[in-house]
Amino acid sequence: MSGERINRVGKRTSHQIDLVSDVGFGKFLNLLHSTSPGGVISLGVGEPAFTTPWHICEAAFDALKAGYTGYTPSAGFIELRCAVAQDIESRYGVRYDPETEVVITVGSSQAMDLALRAILEPGDEVIIPDPYYVCYPPCITLAHGIPIPVPTSYENEFKLEAAQVEAQITNRTKAILFGYPANPTGTEMSRADFEEIASIVTKHNLLVISDEIYSRLTYGVEHTCFPSLPGMKECTILLAGFSKTYAMTGWRLGYAAGPADLIAAMSKIHQHTMLSPSSMAQMAAIEALKGGEIDVKRMVDEYDRRRRVITQGFNKIGLRCHEPKGAFYVFPSVEDTGMTSEKFTESLLSEAEVVVMPGNLFGKRGEGFVRCSYATAMSDIEEALRRIAYFVERYRNRTRS
Ligand SMILES: Cc1ncc(COP(=O)(O)O)c(C=O)c1O
Repeated sequence: MSGERINRVGKRTSHQIDLVSDVGFGKFLNLLHSTSPGGVISLGVGEPAFTTPWHICEAAFDALKAGYTGYTPSAGFIELRCAVAQDIESRYGVRYDPETEVVITVGSSQAMDLALRAILEPGDEVIIPDPYYVCYPPCITLAHGIPIPVPTSYENEFKLEAAQVEAQITNRTKAILFGYPANPTGTEMSRADFEEIASIVTKHNLLVISDEIYSRLTYGVEHTCFPSLPGMKECTILLAGFSKTYAMTGWRLGYAAGPADLIAAMSKIHQHTMLSPSSMAQMAAIEALKGGEIDVKRMVDEYDRRRRVITQGFNKIGLRCHEPKGAFYVFPSVEDTGMTSEKFTESLLSEAEVVVMPGNLFGKRGEGFVRCSYATAMSDIEEALRRIAYFVERYRNRTRS
């Protein structure tokens, strides 16, 4: 025990840590590592298969050469905050003051953590759609809140329904946290869908955290920015970033935009816990916003091609799935095979060497589904579909006989 510190109840970690479940990838990753790596095809990861466009990398090299190696203003360079505010206004018509209503963060992940810590009192409830992005419940719990999953259904394309949200509202409900286009389902909400949610927000005086990290990755539909709805800017913290749009996951840069009082509260935590986001990543992000449009179009067109192939492929195999409207995930049902999500995932990996994510990792309503990313090379998608078809057919034959 020498040199080790324990708290008064003899416990070295906080109660909050006990409440957070291990994401559940653990068992699954062990399986993956026990399989010969050469032949495995992964549809598991949620990150672009592209590398960051070269002119964006060059902006970072130039920044380093020019001596941008120190801390920056805590909220980020004002040039970047202006570029972010301008981008949001030109796309969605929502005006944010770059001085007081925008903060640059270490990925949108940090923005989400700041937002939750800035608004929650212990025991406050935060409504999230189920299936959800795996990090939502732990982030809420670590901010001393209580995640309240609201069921969504395949039949309604996993859209968040106002009536379902309202049914979960209590006097402890503080906020709704959602992200559209959605991970893991690829669902996008229309303006009309959002209007119904907005009326509940107004009626119950709630806050909204709108995670729009996939907003630029939509296919054939126009993204509605939630704070662009009447009355919603005042009660919404908008989260977004550079990871998915510009294939910049490793640069760790995102941002939050919202009402000045909420951004000020978030900035307080940011100042003390992060000091500032990376200087060179910010210089790269300025270049991304200035000259990255052509790259975004190229990547979206490619994702769109892969999306069609993978959706048709799964439906042909008999694993029904919706054509996703955004992000880069499909969420086929494996119910007809008679396997649970986990059984399907584990057997698929060990018998066909294809990695997919079990849907139950994303909430109760994800059971019976698997998440597949199509941010993977087309040749890998085609080969994965062949293997899955063979695997499902063989499994069906085995259970029939
Ligand atoms: C829905 C969703 N929100 C947020 C994030 C985090 O992104 P960032 O790289 O900006 O932290 C992810 C990453 O996969 C995501 O899928």
